[in-house]
Amino acid sequence: MSTTATRTGARHLSSFDLKSWVDRSCQEVNRALDKFLPKATSKPATMHKAMRYSLFAGGKRMRPALTLAAAEACGGIHDAAMPLACAVECIHTYSLIHDDLPAMDNDDFRRGNPTNHKVFGEGIAILAGDALLTQAFEIAAQCEAWPRYSHQDIILEIAKASGSLQLIAGQIADLEGEGKKLGIPQLKYIHERKTSALLCCSVRLGGMSANCTAKQLRALTDFGYNVGLAFQVIDDILDVTATTEQLGKTAGKDLTAQKATYPAIVGLEKSRKIAQQLTEKAFAALKTFRGKAKALEALAEYLLKRQN
Ligand code: IPE
Ligand code: IPE
Ligand code: MG
Ligand code: MG
Ligand code: MG
Repeated sequence: MSTTATRTGARHLSSFDLKSWVDRSCQEVNRALDKFLPKATSKPATMHKAMRYSLFAGGKRMRPALTLAAAEACGGIHDAAMPLACAVECIHTYSLIHDDLPAMDNDDFRRGNPTNHKVFGEGIAILAGDALLTQAFEIAAQCEAWPRYSHQDIILEIAKASGSLQLIAGQIADLEGEGKKLGIPQLKYIHERKTSALLCCSVRLGGMSANCTAKQLRALTDFGYNVGLAFQVIDDILDVTATTEQLGKTAGKDLTAQKATYPAIVGLEKSRKIAQQLTEKAFAALKTFRGKAKALEALAEYLLKRQN
């Protein structure tokens, strides 16, 4: 994960060690999540076991990483960003539990383990998702208030990204798109909402936790939007090119479910090109940070090249 490779030939070699940075951030996030969540033995124990089962199953923790990296880019510290980093991971995990349900993508594996409903049953899995979504707001409400951003701003930010106009809208369009031949604009509509909205929100929250300026927030929004779109294009590509073992979720499911994806619509080569172009746009958005956004830059590069 070290970013010695550069996005353009002209760029100087960067010595940023992303692997160490992500390992350290992951540990911090896991410790904080463990502290924020009710213990597995707290009643109702089945619920807390089910929430923790999916949350600690081994996700990449890329949304919290983006929150922490954005905080760094704006001169902030991890501790201040941590409740928001944990909140976005709870929302993401809830969205995965529900995404895997038989009524949605009907998946048996997630994060290298049987899906929540396979272990706990559908009823508990639905409730574990509900509980994680609610937990996210409880955790986010525990952040500090900053001079430029109130608790109201923070809660609105998270609610909007995960609500019926964004993440949920994307999931609906994704389901409704099954078996249909969608065009690029419709597919982009899905990706903007089901994936990019929460990634962009994760980046913006990091900036807000560092009391960022309006200009910095605009740059983070531009970065997060494009990284978020690239993220889903790569997810679609990996569904075709990677193995179930690599992914920790069943590969090849998009084709079986006749999902609208970039590889299905424009082919693998063009899809890779699109992901590359979106990542270039994300890099360009970081110019304003004048070299202080090293972790964000390295994350964007990693997310383009990832194999899982
Ligand atoms: C998978 O997200 C769902 C999408 C939005 C494509 P990730 O690939 O970040 O999943 P985890 O968190 O590592 O399991
Ligand atoms: C999931 O998209 C998006 C959300 C959960 C909001 P996918 O259905 O493509 O994600 P995977 O491939 O199951 O991880
Ligand atoms: Mg889905
Ligand atoms: Mg799915
Ligand atoms: Mg997918």
